Amino acid sequence: MEILILNGPNLNLLGTREKSVYGSRSFEDYYKELEEDFPDLKLSYFQSNTEGALIDKLHEVGFSFKGIVFNAGAYTHTSVALSDAIKAIDTPVIEVHISNVYAREAFRHKSMIAPYCTGSISGFGLESYRLALQFLERQKPKQV
Ligand code: DQA
Repeated sequence: MEILILNGPNLNLLGTREKSVYGSRSFEDYYKELEEDFPDLKLSYFQSNTEGALIDKLHEVGFSFKGIVFNAGAYTHTSVALSDAIKAIDTPVIEVHISNVYAREAFRHKSMIAPYCTGSISGFGLESYRLALQFLERQKPKQV
């Protein structure tokens, strides 16, 4: 079951960026742990700071992969283009956030992508990604 973890802008700086909000662990380090803990999922990982590159990746995997776990970073709150891309593809997308966006500034309370995602997970630190993978792991393949 092929699953993509997709990270948007500034998430390449996890571990050094605003540690009090996002913690002190790099995503690369956490991703290794996820690969070990989910041996039955064929995980892949992509990060970009660029909206277009994130859209291209959604198009690339969005008709064949079984799931996408997407932290769109600040684009969550602004991007019509990313929400259109999620609407356009077949693969279910789960929105994740490390921080509890609802406990932060008001501009983070609005998600442009949430209406087109299967569901949203926010506020569990890096473990937000694990919760999304646990859900996807339990999805039965569609009957034909
Ligand atoms: C974030 C929350 C966003 O509001 C912020 O812009 C981020 C990270 C999170 O994972 O908590 O870059 O998506």
